[in-house]
Amino acid sequence: MSLQYKIISKFYDLLDVIYFKDTNTNPRKGMLEYIPDRKLKVLDLCIGTAANSITIAENRPKSEIIGIDLSKDMLTVAKEKIGKRGIRNITTYVMDATNIGFDDNYFDIVVISLVLHEVDYNIRNKIIIEAKRVLKKKGRIIILEWDNPNKFIHKPLFSIIELLEPKGFKEFLHLNIKEYVEKFSLKVLREKKCDYTRIIEITKNVMDYNHLLEKYDDMTLLVTLILPEHTEAVMREIGKAMNIDIDLEEVIWAVENNDIRGINQVCLFEKGRDFVYIDCGDDLHQIIIRCLHSEREKIYDSFYKWVQLRQEAYNQPKGKELIDWMHPDENYEKYKNPLLSNLQYNKLIDYENE
Ligand SMILES: C[S@@+](CC[C@H](N)C(=O)[O-])C[C@H]1O[C@@H](n2cnc3c(N)ncnc32)[C@H](O)[C@@H]1O
Repeated sequence: MSLQYKIISKFYDLLDVIYFKDTNTNPRKGMLEYIPDRKLKVLDLCIGTAANSITIAENRPKSEIIGIDLSKDMLTVAKEKIGKRGIRNITTYVMDATNIGFDDNYFDIVVISLVLHEVDYNIRNKIIIEAKRVLKKKGRIIILEWDNPNKFIHKPLFSIIELLEPKGFKEFLHLNIKEYVEKFSLKVLREKKCDYTRIIEITKNVMDYNHLLEKYDDMTLLVTLILPEHTEAVMREIGKAMNIDIDLEEVIWAVENNDIRGINQVCLFEKGRDFVYIDCGDDLHQIIIRCLHSEREKIYDSFYKWVQLRQEAYNQPKGKELIDWMHPDENYEKYKNPLLSNLQYNKLIDYENE
């Protein structure tokens, strides 16, 4: 493979000139949609000549990008391009993607671009396992891969790719990525079509269901509404009370960008044994906390003052009853909070496992 890339490295960048020249629909730019503009550690697995890394570095300057590849020749081209552009936030290493020399849970984003189609089944599996290992619990794997083009005028050029790619390419095009990654306890969140390609956003299956079932009897949900402007402070206090390290930067980003997902439109902030959710409405944010039954009073006290502020703002009588408790198998119907009438404990737990 490395030998092959010795020659390919000389003209590899023609690929972008021929196939990905359209600035609006090219996948290098398309990938940015999946990478927020904040301090992130990004791993570009099999970086090649750094087409993705350079786009990320220039558009997401706060990020720190590590690119690894087995081919020194591809990396030489990558380094020249990075140097010419004066980019400082990309570091490259000669390294095997099936044996990544970084710690577990190290990266926020792992990019795997135009690689999986050209490696055999075993290597592909190993790359996915390693990508998952180095990915933070709430990180994202972003796969960019060739895909049958929708546009008729793209078909002739795509047939050249079909000719040049290794045996098994056509089967790969039909691979059901959703089912494939599920074997590794990964989950497809989104997929989008770009020129000749598709981009697939994948997450670790954050809910460890068995772990959850073990604790099921002792868990409770604590639900309340607050004003959006109090969200950050409330999350901070909840974190302190639960002794969990809530990633506030992520909370703020998710709320500001309306990064809501799942059937209840909820942002999920899971840390170890406990879970905190925010449902982002326009006027009110609904905070749902899964905690140990024995801890609920303590946690409740940590944010009661903001509940009072919200009650004042809405001219509601002050009282604890506007904070609700729920136990497994219970519905919210008996409570007063109208927004919660459809909420069911099991539904919330299950949506991450769908
Ligand atoms: C088609 S290129 C893709 C390059 C780049 N990711 C892109 O999107 O243009 C595939 C790259 O994967 C690298 N590669 C293949 N197997 C690898 C492995 N096991 N470990 C690291 N790099 C590998 C090759 O050297 C080559 O640079």
